Amino acid sequence: MTLTDLLEDRGVSFLLFGGKGGVGKTSCSAASALWAAEHGKETLIISTDPAHSLSDSFDQQIGGEIKKVEGCSGLSALELDPRKAFEEYRKKLSETENFEEQAQSVLRELGDLSSMTPPGTDEAIAFAKVLEFIENPEYDLVVFDTAPTGHTLRLLSLPDILNSWVVNLIKIRVYMSKLTGLFKRLIGRGDEEDRTLDVLEKLKETIGVAKETLKDPNETAFVIVMIPEVMAIYETERLLSSLIEYEIPCDHIIVNMIYPDVPNCPFCRARRQMQQENLKDIREIYDDFNITEVPLFETEIRGIDKLRKLSEILFT
Ligand SMILES: Nc1ncnc2c1ncn2[C@@H]1O[C@H](COP(=O)(O)OP(=O)(O)OP(=O)(O)O)[C@@H](O)[C@H]1O
Ligand SMILES: [Mg+2]
Repeated sequence: MTLTDLLEDRGVSFLLFGGKGGVGKTSCSAASALWAAEHGKETLIISTDPAHSLSDSFDQQIGGEIKKVEGCSGLSALELDPRKAFEEYRKKLSETENFEEQAQSVLRELGDLSSMTPPGTDEAIAFAKVLEFIENPEYDLVVFDTAPTGHTLRLLSLPDILNSWVVNLIKIRVYMSKLTGLFKRLIGRGDEEDRTLDVLEKLKETIGVAKETLKDPNETAFVIVMIPEVMAIYETERLLSSLIEYEIPCDHIIVNMIYPDVPNCPFCRARRQMQQENLKDIREIYDDFNITEVPLFETEIRGIDKLRKLSEILFT
């Protein structure tokens, strides 16, 4: 199954690109989003990397609000700004009746759970955005340009961490409402309902749906980007074992920046030979993966025209 089949036949809705720093994740995700949009899919590309580079890649200002990409109708882009997204959530939630009060009590409970490691805010916000798009699918395809491996793995482990958090909160909440119910009955206000529990139950349900969506090969695909160098092979091994642990479907690898055969250039020949040897190992180790090989371009890949050129290589 090629990358084209992945989008056209399998028709996944979420495409994540990940791998070691600097191997071409942003370029490959931008080129793929462009290809999908130019093949009739309403597409959104989101950068979850706090060090955003979608603006550099598309050579136009993107930023923290969803924006149409100039030069490609059907493609929108967003560079997630955790602080801004957090404020948006706060605002939205504070419009919910009584929310501040409920949030305070949840936060107090969270304080009591300090033995559990809270996830990083950046990843939590990025994950909340993922939840949003899973809940309200406005796009045919959402492409995620992720940060280098470590950050992305924390993002992908969030459903489990959050789930255990929420389950614990629910337990505590049930216990507390029994106590407060008793107290309220004592002071004659026994029929007030506990909405915090509803909020938590809803959150648990949403996280459950997100977990299932991330595991479903008809919905989600994780594409690993690497270069033909030994360090990248090691990192790919680590990334893959985590993806297996989280049951995230991954059967595509892009090997990027392959040196072309340049006559009369001993330096180029040496590098090419080193890469070709590693490439042989990669083909052998990952023989049940679909491998797409991408040559090193003469220039960096910036702007729609260059990205289109890359997409032609990825999707032929
Ligand atoms: N095949 C290629 N040929 C030439 N230049 C490339 C190729 N692929 C990527 N580049 C260039 O390499 C640099 C790094 O690429 P990119 O930003 O896509 O990597 P990344 O994995 O997203 O990096 P980071 O880990 O910093 O997010 C960019 O300048 C990009 O234009
Ligand atoms: Mg990047």
